[in-house]
Amino acid sequence: MGVTIGFIGAGNMTTAILKGLMASGLFDAGDIIVSNPTRDKLDLLQKNCGVKTTTDNRALAAEADYILLGVKPGIIPEVLHQLKGETSLKEKLLISIAAGIPIAYYEGILGEDQPFVRTMPNTPAMVGEGMTVIAANHGVDAEGLAMVKRIFDAVGKSLVVPEALFDAVTAASGSSPAMVYVFIEALADGAVLKGLPRETAYALASQAVLGAAKMARDSGLHPGALKDAVTSPGGTTIEAIKVLEDRGFRGAVMEAVKQCADKSHEISNKFK
Ligand SMILES: NC(=O)c1ccc[n+]([C@@H]2O[C@H](COP(=O)([O-])OP(=O)(O)OC[C@H]3O[C@@H](n4cnc5c(N)ncnc54)[C@H](OP(=O)(O)O)[C@@H]3O)[C@@H](O)[C@H]2O)c1
Repeated sequence: MGVTIGFIGAGNMTTAILKGLMASGLFDAGDIIVSNPTRDKLDLLQKNCGVKTTTDNRALAAEADYILLGVKPGIIPEVLHQLKGETSLKEKLLISIAAGIPIAYYEGILGEDQPFVRTMPNTPAMVGEGMTVIAANHGVDAEGLAMVKRIFDAVGKSLVVPEALFDAVTAASGSSPAMVYVFIEALADGAVLKGLPRETAYALASQAVLGAAKMARDSGLHPGALKDAVTSPGGTTIEAIKVLEDRGFRGAVMEAVKQCADKSHEISNKFK
C-alpha cells in the first residue's frame, strides 16, 4: 500500500497489534518496521512475521509514516527526546498506547503541531477482540484519524472519545478485563465447590462470559432485559441474583471502576 508503520517497542501489545494488522491485510510485512533496544524479540519477529527491524528508534521514525509508541509509560520521555531530533517528524502521525499520559505532555515536548493520537487499547487485542479508545490532537486530519481507526479495528473495535473521558475509559476498558478474570475465576471456584472438575469449570465459566458479552454487545437489548429473560419466577437463576444483590456485587464493581479511574487521574497528574 506504500504506507509504512513503525512500532517502537517489541512488547506484548505491539506484537498483538502488529499480528492483527498483518492478518487483516492492512499492512504487508515489508511495510512494517519494529524497534527494540535488544535483538532477541526483534529476531523472533523478523523470523516469524518477516517485518523489518532496528535497534535505532530515530531510524525507524525517519522511515515510518505512522509511528506507534509501544513502550511502558516511564520510557516515553526518553523516546520522545530521541524522536524530537528527526527532521521529518511533523509529517508523521504518532500514536501512543501508553496508559495515563495526556496529549498535552507529548505536545509539550514535540510541539502542538505534531500530529498525535492517544489511545487506550486492552489485552483482548491479542485474540482480535480488543477495544481501543482514541483521542486525537488538532494536528490530525480526517484521513489520519480514519487510518488510526483501521489499525485498531484490525485487532477488535475502536471508538473516538474526548480525552477528558480517558480516566473512565481506562477503568471501563483498559483495566476491566482483569475484573472479568476475577469473576470467571470466582464462577469456576463456585462450580468446583459443587463438584465440577477444575478444567470443566473454567471452560464453562469463560464460555458463559464470552456468550453473555456477545449477547449484550450484539442483541441491542438492555443488560437488565437479558437478565430478566433468564430468571424464571421461583427458579434457580433468581436465587443466584439475590445473593449477588445481598452481597453488594453491583456496588463493589462500581466502586472498583471509580477507584481505578481515580488512580488513572492521579497518574496523569504526574505528567502535567
Ligand atoms: N498490557 C496492557 O494491558 C495494556 C493496556 C493498554 C495499554 N498498555 C500500554 O502498552 C504499552 C506497552 O505495554 P506492554 O504490556 O506491551 O509492555 P512490554 O511487553 O513490556 O513491552 C515494552 C517493550 O518496549 C521495549 N523498550 C524498552 N525501552 C525501549 C526503548 N527505549 N526504545 C524502544 N523500545 C523499548 C521493551 O524492550 P525490552 O523488554 O527488551 O527491554 C519491550 O519490548 C505501555 O505503555 C502500556 O501502558 C498496555
